Amino acid sequence: MAYSEKVLDHYENPRNVGKFDESDDIGTGMVGAPACGDVMRLQIKVNESGVIEDAKFKTYGCGSAIASSSLLTEWVKGKTLDEAEHIKNTEIAQELALPPVKIHCSVLAEDAIKAAISDYRKKKGEA
Ligand code: FES
Ligand code: FES
Repeated sequence: MAYSEKVLDHYENPRNVGKFDESDDIGTGMVGAPACGDVMRLQIKVNESGVIEDAKFKTYGCGSAIASSSLLTEWVKGKTLDEAEHIKNTEIAQELALPPVKIHCSVLAEDAIKAAISDYRKKKGEA
């Protein structure tokens, strides 16, 4: 199948690949896609004002999943947790021009950021 330019760009030059060491200001989301078994780990580093300062990901999956998580790490930087929580997979899919069979790859990214935010809130005793 044909990948869009934006998918290829993020796939070939993924942004923010890596891992933070666990600590109080880190939230980690680890999610899997039932449809294909791909796995995504997304981490956020949050400052005292509740703003995401940095984000990193590692995705064991297809090009669209890698591109979705790469794009998402760019989008969440500088956002508050509430703002980041409202990013929709449909916005990711639209930006990357994902075809219908690849929509679940963007869902994985939305699930991952939600899981990371909820992990962070649990650590802070807010959830
Ligand atoms: Fe997940 Fe292609 S189906 S890597
Ligand atoms: Fe399953 Fe992309 S995450 S094919």
